[in-house]
Amino acid sequence: MATRGHLLLFFILEPFCLLHITPSLAYSLKNCTILYQETRSADVSLDCANRNLETIPDDFPKNAASVQLNNNRLKKITRKDFSKMSQLRRLHLGFNQIDSVYDRSFSDLVFLKTLSMEHNNLNHLTRDMFYGLSNLTLLNLSSNFIQFIHCSAFRHMYRLQTLDLGNNDLQQIVEIQPVLQLPQIQTLKLRCNQFSSFETKELSLNFSSLREIDISGRNLERFSITTPIFPFLQMISLSGCEGNSTLKWDITDKTLLKRVVKLYIADAVLSFIETEKVLKSLYSLSHLRLQHLDEWIRKGLLTTVCKLPALKTLDLSNRLTNFILKFQPCSELTQLYLRESYISKLPKGSLQSLEQLQFLNLSTNRLTNVPFDVRHLSSLEILLVGNNLISELNCEDFLNTTRLMELYLNNNRITKLKRCVLQSLTDLKVLGLSNNLILTVGDTFKKTLFKLEVLDMSHNSIISLESGDFQGLQKLKYLNVTRNSIGKVDDGSFTDLVSLKTLDMRENKLTNLTSNVFQGLFNLTVLDLSHNFIQFMHDSAFRVLTSLETVNFYSNMLQYDHPGLIYYLERGILHNMKHLEYFKAENIYLSAPYSNTFQSNQKLRSLTFTKTDLSELQPELFLPVPNLESLDLSESQLKSLDFLVHANLPALRYLNLAGNELNVINKTVFQSLPSLTFLDLDKNPFTCECSNADFIQWVKSNTQTQVVNAHQYVCSFPVSRRGSLLLDFNFQPCLDDGGFLCFVSSSCLVVLTLLSSFVYHFLRWHLTYTFHLLLAFLYNSRKGRKRDPHQFDAFVSYNVRDEGWVYREMLPVLEGEQGWRLCLHHRDFQPGKPIIENITDAIYGSRKTICVISRSYLQSEWCSREIQMASFRLFDEQKDVLVLLFLENIPAHHLSPYYRMRKLVKKRTYLSWPQAAQHPGVFWQNVQRALQAGGALAENTDLLLGPAGR
Ligand SMILES: *[C@@H]1O[C@H](CO)[C@@H](O)[C@H](O)[C@H]1NC(C)=O
Ligand SMILES: *[C@@H]1O[C@H](CO)[C@@H](O)[C@H](O)[C@H]1NC(C)=O
Ligand SMILES: *[C@@H]1O[C@H](CO)[C@@H](O)[C@H](O)[C@H]1NC(C)=O
Ligand SMILES: *[C@@H]1O[C@H](CO)[C@@H](O)[C@H](O)[C@H]1NC(C)=O
Ligand SMILES: *[C@@H]1O[C@H](CO)[C@@H](O)[C@H](O)[C@H]1NC(C)=O
Repeated sequence: MATRGHLLLFFILEPFCLLHITPSLAYSLKNCTILYQETRSADVSLDCANRNLETIPDDFPKNAASVQLNNNRLKKITRKDFSKMSQLRRLHLGFNQIDSVYDRSFSDLVFLKTLSMEHNNLNHLTRDMFYGLSNLTLLNLSSNFIQFIHCSAFRHMYRLQTLDLGNNDLQQIVEIQPVLQLPQIQTLKLRCNQFSSFETKELSLNFSSLREIDISGRNLERFSITTPIFPFLQMISLSGCEGNSTLKWDITDKTLLKRVVKLYIADAVLSFIETEKVLKSLYSLSHLRLQHLDEWIRKGLLTTVCKLPALKTLDLSNRLTNFILKFQPCSELTQLYLRESYISKLPKGSLQSLEQLQFLNLSTNRLTNVPFDVRHLSSLEILLVGNNLISELNCEDFLNTTRLMELYLNNNRITKLKRCVLQSLTDLKVLGLSNNLILTVGDTFKKTLFKLEVLDMSHNSIISLESGDFQGLQKLKYLNVTRNSIGKVDDGSFTDLVSLKTLDMRENKLTNLTSNVFQGLFNLTVLDLSHNFIQFMHDSAFRVLTSLETVNFYSNMLQYDHPGLIYYLERGILHNMKHLEYFKAENIYLSAPYSNTFQSNQKLRSLTFTKTDLSELQPELFLPVPNLESLDLSESQLKSLDFLVHANLPALRYLNLAGNELNVINKTVFQSLPSLTFLDLDKNPFTCECSNADFIQWVKSNTQTQVVNAHQYVCSFPVSRRGSLLLDFNFQPCLDDGGFLCFVSSSCLVVLTLLSSFVYHFLRWHLTYTFHLLLAFLYNSRKGRKRDPHQFDAFVSYNVRDEGWVYREMLPVLEGEQGWRLCLHHRDFQPGKPIIENITDAIYGSRKTICVISRSYLQSEWCSREIQMASFRLFDEQKDVLVLLFLENIPAHHLSPYYRMRKLVKKRTYLSWPQAAQHPGVFWQNVQRALQAGGALAENTDLLLGPAGR
């Protein structure tokens, strides 16, 4: 009994088991998005930021390399949160409310390199909270409330290089000692803590590998380095916090800091005298930044500064409003920052002595013209005067700065650039003129800036481009005229720009493109024409653009006018662009794009058609572009995805179908997209009925394609379910009727095929037997206990070849003489009924089953089923229902393949015709007795004359 039960259970439950064996690696995450990466091999990067999360989602893919959880409402980190995420390299937990991290919560993150926990509520760092972070190089714990650090908290971080503990409540510098001892530590930020002093004599360590230290405090009073523990220190940063501090600088031995080359001092943390003292003790300084120290500068600090023998870079970003700067010769100074200094006028002679100056940043001041002193700076290579109030430039402004390579004049009030202004700048490579009031290009560049490579004229008021405007700019690679008012571009405007790679013309007022508008731009790779009003263009406008890789046609007016862009696409405007990789268009088609559109663009990798009526889209459109990786068809009135089935997109990884009119999605569509990993179906009117059951199941269980934000998709139909969530729809009842069986059979088919061929070879008898057990069991339970009284006395199971014997010898005796009602399949089976059902009915409809056994019987498939089923009944009902009549002598070892039969023969009664041939009367009497015998199974009852044909 037990065997049978187990077998049946196995057969009935097996399909379910198989379903559960499939690992359910959730790809449609509840609260996060796996970001789409352009490069196929890129790391898995998870975005869970800004989602009001209070706990960490439990469905992270374990192979994520980067997780953003910043700006949520997390309160604690537990051990299971990041368990097994051994590939994680970057974890961002900043801007939450975390006040506790359970011990060893990060212990699986052996590859983690960056951990950010700034702006949380941490109060102390326990011994084991960072356990296992042996590869961490950067740890940001700034802006917490840390008061205590366990002395072993950082013990595993052999590779830590940067630690930010700024804005905490640390009191004692000795708490930092374990950090200073880390072998790779380079940067330590301690600004704005509660230290009252930083004194190396309090620390008991030989030396630290520290290179940069940033320290300040609300009441820091003493900075004292008296022991040689920082032999590698290169940078010191001292800045103020709210509160007053009058810091004492106690470094008497200059050699202790002989490697310090950078010093930042911000806010008046030191008195004037102390500041001078500091500068004098750091004779190797090459980079000095003094911020918000205007008072000390007014008092004459620059005199001391300029005496620093190695100083090269000086950053004075201070409120220097009306102060008259007067630099003494500053021996080595090559870089000067005077930005954000409220300077409206730099009097003549301020910078005159800085003859070696190569870099000058005067941006974000109140200058109304380029300071006169610039004319003296003949070594100047980079000049920034952006963000000032300059409205006019003079012909002499740059007369002597002939080495200038980069000039930034952005964010001023310049209306016109006379040709003479830039005439001497023959080395100029970069010119920034964005955010001015320039109306025309005119002759500004004409035959002067031969080396210019980058020209940014975005955000001006240019209304047209004319032939010759860019004459001579043969090296220009980048031209940005975004956000002007350009309504007209003359033929030949760009003729000389033979090196141009990028032309950004978005947000202008272009209405049409003439045939020669882009003449000369045969090296152009990026063209942005988005957000214009283009209505007409000449068929051959794009003909010269043979190097184009990216075209952006986003948001234009072609949809309103006849003939629309489709007309031009049909005429092959893209046909010369053999290198086209990106095409982006919004709101431009009257109808679906013509199928030959991309015929010549085999390299196309990314295609965007949005806000366009694509309801008639044909799969043929995609046939020429098999390399497509990214397809955005959002908001395009798609009602069906059938076109994807025949589109042949083997490389497609990104598919955005948001905002369409899709109700029911057939999951087979995605089988034709073998590389798909990112699918966005947001804002579609889903039907939450059985028709979507397969799709829902696929969203939940597929292990390759992430359906972005699937857990937020909402039902639109039927009306009764409107507003509920798609994935909450209970599809189980749908699957139970047929659909489920279909699903089960398809998913198990492969496994079963393999299994059955194995079984067929090695276990065929067991299997067939079990199969019949199952059938019989089902029959049995279907008919239940209220089975009809037996219709026949015996069902006779025989092979056709033995039919003669049955009709000649058996029937006359058993039916004729003894009066039994027999069931013979030729005679009594119901036509039209499945044979297996007939057999089952016959066996159960008869009190006994007589098997007429011969060699042919054993070879016949159906006969063996009959005997199997009958023997099942034997077990099932615990009744001796089988009568075995051997027509031939069959040696026992011939029965061995019929394992079951052999056991029966050994155990049960049987009658042998060859043995009884001389006394048929006795034989038939024995048969009669066997048929009369009813009831309980009696082991080893020997009805007969001994074993036959051994
Ligand atoms: C995630 O999202 C689901 C619903 O989309 C919400 O019920 C759950 O609270 C969210 N948070 C976490 C941590 O899973
Ligand atoms: C740290 O990362 C490197 C590779 O970046 C790896 O080889 C090493 O095993 C990691 N260390 C530990 C302790 O896991
Ligand atoms: C700093 O000290 C000055 C006077 O010494 C005082 O007026 C000011 O309020 C103090 N500022 C703070 C933030 O304590
Ligand atoms: C500019 O350079 C010329 C010659 O190189 C020199 O004579 C002239 O004085 C310089 N002008 C200024 C303002 O330095
Ligand atoms: C052109 O300039 C605008 C800002 O003025 C900028 O946003 C845009 O990215 C630039 N275009 C390119 C292609 O760099």
